[in-house]
Amino acid sequence: MTAATPGPRAVRGAVGVAHTRVEGRDKVTGAARYAGEIPYPDLAHGWLVLSTITRGRILDVGSAPVLDMPGVLTVLHHGNAARLKTDFTGQFGTPPDPTCAVFQNDRVPFAGWPVALVVAETPEQAREAAEALVVTYDREPHDTALVADHPGARLADSQTSAGTENVDLEERLTASAFVVDGRYTTPEGQHSMMEPHAATARWEGGRLEVVDSNQGAGWVQGELARMFSLDASSVRVRSEHIGGGFGSKGLRAHQVSAVMAATALRRPVRVVLTRRQTFSLAGCRSPTIQRVRLGAAPDGRLLALEHLSLNQTSTVHEFVEAGAGVARVLYGAEAHRTANHVVRLDVPSPTWMRAPGQAPGSFAIETALDELATRAGVDPIELRLRNEPETGPVSGLPFSSRNLAACFREGARRFGWADRDPRPGTRREGRWLLGTGTAAASYGAGAAPSTAQVTAEEDGSFTVRIAAADIGTGARTALTLVAADALETVPARVLVRVGDSDFGPAMIAGGSMGTRSWAWAVTAAAAELRERLAATAVIPPEGITVRSDTTGAIGDLARKERHSYGAQFAEAAVDTATGEVRVRRMLGIFAAGRIVNPLTARNQLVGGMTWGISMALHEEAVRDRNSGGHYAPDLAGYHVATHADVPEIEADWVEDDDPDDPVGIKGVGEVGIVGAAAAIANAVWHATGVRHRDLPIRPGRVLAATVPGPAGGAADPGA
Ligand code: MOS
Repeated sequence: MTAATPGPRAVRGAVGVAHTRVEGRDKVTGAARYAGEIPYPDLAHGWLVLSTITRGRILDVGSAPVLDMPGVLTVLHHGNAARLKTDFTGQFGTPPDPTCAVFQNDRVPFAGWPVALVVAETPEQAREAAEALVVTYDREPHDTALVADHPGARLADSQTSAGTENVDLEERLTASAFVVDGRYTTPEGQHSMMEPHAATARWEGGRLEVVDSNQGAGWVQGELARMFSLDASSVRVRSEHIGGGFGSKGLRAHQVSAVMAATALRRPVRVVLTRRQTFSLAGCRSPTIQRVRLGAAPDGRLLALEHLSLNQTSTVHEFVEAGAGVARVLYGAEAHRTANHVVRLDVPSPTWMRAPGQAPGSFAIETALDELATRAGVDPIELRLRNEPETGPVSGLPFSSRNLAACFREGARRFGWADRDPRPGTRREGRWLLGTGTAAASYGAGAAPSTAQVTAEEDGSFTVRIAAADIGTGARTALTLVAADALETVPARVLVRVGDSDFGPAMIAGGSMGTRSWAWAVTAAAAELRERLAATAVIPPEGITVRSDTTGAIGDLARKERHSYGAQFAEAAVDTATGEVRVRRMLGIFAAGRIVNPLTARNQLVGGMTWGISMALHEEAVRDRNSGGHYAPDLAGYHVATHADVPEIEADWVEDDDPDDPVGIKGVGEVGIVGAAAAIANAVWHATGVRHRDLPIRPGRVLAATVPGPAGGAADPGA
């Protein structure tokens, strides 16, 4: 069938009305089963053994004594593992990360690299044996330090605005009335999803079935099929409930090693990553070193904008954390230059992590804007409004809709921005210095081809089947509401089944594109089904099923710039005697297209903002240069914001639409974190007069910074 083309939208009853999660009861009662807890007869358990060196070669894997330990079934390593195919381009345009294509050679490219899988009858036996396994190495010197002038750094991408190639950036900076030139750093980040990765692989009736926790069942199925040289139809991946992913849950070492072991042993094998193992195997957010130079006319209008970002990747896989990308959307300038650089180090491969690029990039550019506002004596919101571009600053394309200004106006009203005294370091409350800050947010709004099946059942209900992933976002519920409206029925008559690669190709839960992509396919199938039903007197026992494919419909989206926007506001209290920073309140106002389910959309936005607190104040995976590994790779050593750190957070939205798809969704998964850390850092500056350009703003950094004198006497080291 053909995909639906955008047109008049269906009568709405469900979309836009708050709805609790359709699987909520199953989750809170424990009826919902996660990948690591589904029982199978004859299940064996694999435990990964990770390298203790950072760089070198494996000389020997001492399997023999371990094979004699209780319950041990096998030890897989580079000397006996099946050969995998890795020279293919995956669904998202890159070859698979060799970290996932386990046990293919004797090289160790980073600390925590998978070197063996011990399989035993019970998880305890597997763990005991894995910890007893002696692996000997030929150790080589390593380099794990990201430094600004690293000789190995290379340009990944560079852009200048359309029409400004001939405008000299240096000349524009020289001509500027106000200049900011700042260096900003963000640390290595970890996804810290609640449920670590888990997969069970088994062969059944000639088919490989993998029950997993991932962000795209079809994605993992496709990559596994190619890696193991299997026909895609002989691989099925299911992923019904997922305890968070944030970008880390694609193809990883646990699925591949489980498939290897299940194939070798001819019985089901489960591999679960420990929290510590996720630190090197699940991907991470690369640290960044960024430089922003801004030059402005006396009225604050940008004459020059330069944003450069450097990130690290592993020596085996390239991932660019495109920190400089966000400036390409947010602000125009007469001379506009953005570039991302990457350097290969002896560190684990980074990957997508909530708002990849935009989260660290927005910290730099949105802090720099705040610095410029101070220099120019222009209110930070007014400065942003004066620099609102008419069209995409770099692309020159029209915006599908851009309601950033509306976010700032509504946010300023609700936050009480008008009463703000712009002077820093002047508000005291007991031991606390108080300040407020703001920052802009944006995140891309796209869609990707998907297929969906909708069945009209004999009893008058409907079943939707789509290989979507509900990673905790509420996607299953959102699709229930979308389907109900498209079918002109009520949500209670719609059953949405997700997370099964047998349902056909679909977009992953990623890039804030999942719900939009899936909703488009569901709407298309529902429309066709309604036409079919109109011409049908009786529904047969097997129901009537229609399948959609939006492949042809989506390409047109590229003719416009499409983004969600937001205005972030934060109030911070700083104790300059202890260095403690407390966020007192946050408000985020977003323009994120049509909101399908206000309850779960707000949850997504508040979740992103909460992570912004965490990013601003707590999170930092620290690597020891000598060993090349992490200090304390666990949730005791890696601090994430928890309840006591998180104040009242309000997230709301303004009217917004993206008129070119059947539902008008833009996506809310990632925009909530963008700009959040900058708003907090700007509030810390407003409180203390000290500018923090390195995250996280931990107590030591607050203490090391200049302590302000009496009211207004604060020093700004960047001034
Ligand atoms: Mo998100 S980082 O695209 O899972």
